[in-house]
Amino acid sequence: MENRQKILEIRELDISFRTQQGKLNAIRGVNLDLYKGETLAIVGESGSGKSVTARAIIGILAKNSIHNGGTINYYDEEALVSKTPQYVDLMQIEEEDFHKLRGTKISMIFQDPMSSLNPIMKVGTQISEALYLKMGMTKADAKNRALELMKEVGIPEPEKRFFQYPFQFSGGMRQRIVIAIALANDAEILICDEPTTALDVTIQAQILELINRIKKERNLTIIFITHDLGVVANIAERVAVMYAGQIIEIGDVNDIYYDSRHPYTWALLSAMPDLDTDEKLFAIPGTPPDLHFPPAGDAFAPRNQYALQVDFEEEPPMFQVSESHFAKTWLMHEYAPKVVQPIAVTRRNDRHKELIKEKNNGNK
Ligand SMILES: Nc1ncnc2c1ncn2[C@@H]1O[C@H](COP(=O)(O)OP(=O)(O)OP(=O)(O)O)[C@@H](O)[C@H]1O
Ligand SMILES: [Mg+2]
Repeated sequence: MENRQKILEIRELDISFRTQQGKLNAIRGVNLDLYKGETLAIVGESGSGKSVTARAIIGILAKNSIHNGGTINYYDEEALVSKTPQYVDLMQIEEEDFHKLRGTKISMIFQDPMSSLNPIMKVGTQISEALYLKMGMTKADAKNRALELMKEVGIPEPEKRFFQYPFQFSGGMRQRIVIAIALANDAEILICDEPTTALDVTIQAQILELINRIKKERNLTIIFITHDLGVVANIAERVAVMYAGQIIEIGDVNDIYYDSRHPYTWALLSAMPDLDTDEKLFAIPGTPPDLHFPPAGDAFAPRNQYALQVDFEEEPPMFQVSESHFAKTWLMHEYAPKVVQPIAVTRRNDRHKELIKEKNNGNK
């Protein structure tokens, strides 16, 4: 990982929102690195700060946001913002400069594709517009290229579909168009914020497959946001687990699936649907804290059956588990009582490994 180009470096990012009840501290000291060509998943319950982190990266935070501190350094390889290739802080650059990056270098796909599409413009025009307005192609070349891109993202009969409007497409097909627009812009980082949550399971699998394919073909860097740890194994190499505005565990997919250390990650794993029956085994009891009043200690403590006294009093640091794996829990402290991940999680992991083995044998 170290010899790969670090394309984003987030340090101590802290963001609040002004609300009628006072300030809400949505992001509380997030540190995150993103390497060129990788897919990083961000998982966590509703309200944990996944979308706010994404919106900060792409520079579309709501008007009532307050930047309390921290940086998002982006490697401006093509010197679009600075004169020479170097890191620029996305939290500081002028909107005029952000305009050169947003949609081109850094693109975002939302849960609802309609929020990125113009309802009264033909989809073909929306794709080719990116090509002739930003890439300087002639209209004829842009149209041909748009048709190719429609084919590339799996839209059947592109010649006919080119002239249709977004409402004439299904949810899955609309999401494909949004992806085609990102490709037309030659995106470098693609942030996918729950892109498949609104789609049914088969379509969801097809969109995941498409994202995986274009990522490989174009060496894209992807941030994939989801509340469902189940889809993560199919798409990501690394996983960051968020809770109450912080990253509480981060590691390679295998670290998080098979060797997780934070009780919140255990709870998320236990809450995944059963592999065989698709039933949810366990719902995490309680609710996340109200971030108008961020807790002093480990934010998960009141819901954590393994909580120690210190968890209620002092925030744990990020402990290093291995070269690739970090966990923000006092359980990692050398004086902490030895607690192992719950048997339900271990059993589930064993079953998962078996299934993978069976699948691999089946494919031979
Ligand atoms: N414009 C805003 N004004 C006030 N609070 C906001 C605003 N945007 C986000 N928040 C709050 O910030 C916190 C983090 O929100 P965020 O949208 O990042 O959650 P999320 O992890 O994406 O959740 P979900 O899975 O539901 O999409 C939440 O408490 C949310 O209510
Ligand atoms: Mg969200």
